Amino acid sequence: MKGVKISGIGSSKAGYVLTNEELSTIVDTSDEWITTRTGIKNRYISNGQTTTELASKAAALALKNANIEASALDMIIVATITPDLFMPSTACMVQSALGAIKSTAFDISAACSGFIYGSKIAINSIRCGDVKKVLVIGAEVLSKTINWQDRNTCVLFGDGAGAVIYEATDNNKILNMYTQSDGKNGCSLTLNSTPLKNCLIEEKLVTPYMQMDGREVYKFATNIVPICIEKVLQNTEVKLSDIKHFILHQANERILDAVAKKMKIDKSLFFKNLDKYGNTSAASIPIALYEAKANFNTGDKIVLVGFGGGLTWGSLLLEW
Ligand code: COA
Repeated sequence: MKGVKISGIGSSKAGYVLTNEELSTIVDTSDEWITTRTGIKNRYISNGQTTTELASKAAALALKNANIEASALDMIIVATITPDLFMPSTACMVQSALGAIKSTAFDISAACSGFIYGSKIAINSIRCGDVKKVLVIGAEVLSKTINWQDRNTCVLFGDGAGAVIYEATDNNKILNMYTQSDGKNGCSLTLNSTPLKNCLIEEKLVTPYMQMDGREVYKFATNIVPICIEKVLQNTEVKLSDIKHFILHQANERILDAVAKKMKIDKSLFFKNLDKYGNTSAASIPIALYEAKANFNTGDKIVLVGFGGGLTWGSLLLEW
């Protein structure tokens, strides 16, 4: 089986910083409420950037950092729940923007776990010898799916993109992976698409916005993240105490704190940038990786954890 390593990371921000103070002029909320319940202070939202543009910018930076040409990429996977179009896929439009002429390009939908799911597909594709260089992007313009009158959701989310290049190597750095889903309980976090309407069926009105049962999602997250961490360490020689960095999906500071407390892990090992970005769904882990990597040392063991709509969850164990 081939080894796999990360060879480049990039990220990109949407153009407008929306502060809690400005949000308080749009809906009945306050900086104090948002900060104490979530830890979020600001979020970047699109003032014109598309998902494809954010994804392409993050990808270009990852390619530069990996020192490889786009034409060398074998595969491009974009994880997103906010594609610009149903067809072509965001990945195909990124392929065109980058000039990645020999890539196979496709999107996947796994909400806030999308980056972990996409990484698993990329890593397994390299391991089986099918491809050598794979670009995985998490990119979202969630602001177009938000009901800006709904204070339960509009304070939580932001836009952005992060990108990672996985490459074949003799010196394997991906130590384990774990993913799972629970479609039965998917109704606690939903985003409707085009309703069924054809020559046989009259159009039924659907809410076109993100909808969430916050308490249910909070319970799910604080329950599943410790499981993700335990599962990814199982059948490896790595112990919980060996982990130098935990990069969790950036949904809510209270979720990070609750997991740290439950697992008796020092809170300072949990990277946090949700105060600046809010929850950017599939983009949150690669954006966090891009920002956290300045603190990584060679040999550090790192755990990535995604969880979200579907319900979906998963984790990756890496060595830097
Ligand atoms: N500003 C002010 N008040 C708000 C508010 C806001 N933005 N949003 C909700 N409230 C109010 C509610 O209306 C409610 O008022 P009431 O008691 O008069 O009915 C009160 O605050 C408490 O609401 P509740 O939903 O119980 O708050 P909470 O403590 O559960 O916190 C979340 C809400 C959303 C922050 C929390 O449930 C959470 O973090 N859930 C997980 C969300 C998440 O991470 N989703 C993405 C996962 S990928």
